[in-house]
Amino acid sequence: MKTIYIPVGTVTGTAQAVADQVASALTEQGHQVVVDAAPSIAHLNVQAFDAILVVTATTGQGDIPDNLLPFYSELGDVFPLQTGKPFGVIALGDSSYMNFCGAGEKMEERLFELQAVAPVPKVTIDATETVTPDDDALFWLKEWIEVALAS
Ligand SMILES: Cc1cc2nc3c(=O)[nH]c(=O)nc-3n(C[C@H](O)[C@H](O)[C@H](O)COP(=O)(O)O)c2cc1C
Repeated sequence: MKTIYIPVGTVTGTAQAVADQVASALTEQGHQVVVDAAPSIAHLNVQAFDAILVVTATTGQGDIPDNLLPFYSELGDVFPLQTGKPFGVIALGDSSYMNFCGAGEKMEERLFELQAVAPVPKVTIDATETVTPDDDALFWLKEWIEVALAS
């Protein structure tokens, strides 16, 4: 059993729905998850989570949704090293925009700066290509569970 912190960035609810599906799948496999639509370092530090799984949409022009932005900024300001901690990013976006999945990229960069590790590259889910983002996320999740939660 692993404990996983799932910070969510969403504007219109799609990423939240995806995060909820992902959380259900993880829970079914015996893991313990916290899905957080108002994420913060305080919440991250409530327990020693084994892994972090970011699920975020992109808004504006490659921007992080308002509900996730404080966490992103806080991580940059406080800089709590996550050395060796496995993380994953499920990035929702729309390739008709210039900065496709820009928020997912920014979160990924920040976690790399904090020395976390990504055993599986982030997945990008394109709203122009799929109407079932949760299925795409669950497909990617299988590998993430096998690799990131293995030890
Ligand atoms: C106003 C607006 C701006 C957006 N900007 C981007 C963007 O810059 N890059 C991108 O990849 N997707 C962009 N998107 C697409 C959303 O990230 C995508 O539709 C996502 O699935 C929405 O998830 P949500 O319902 O959780 O907010 C934008 C969508 C809207 C409505």
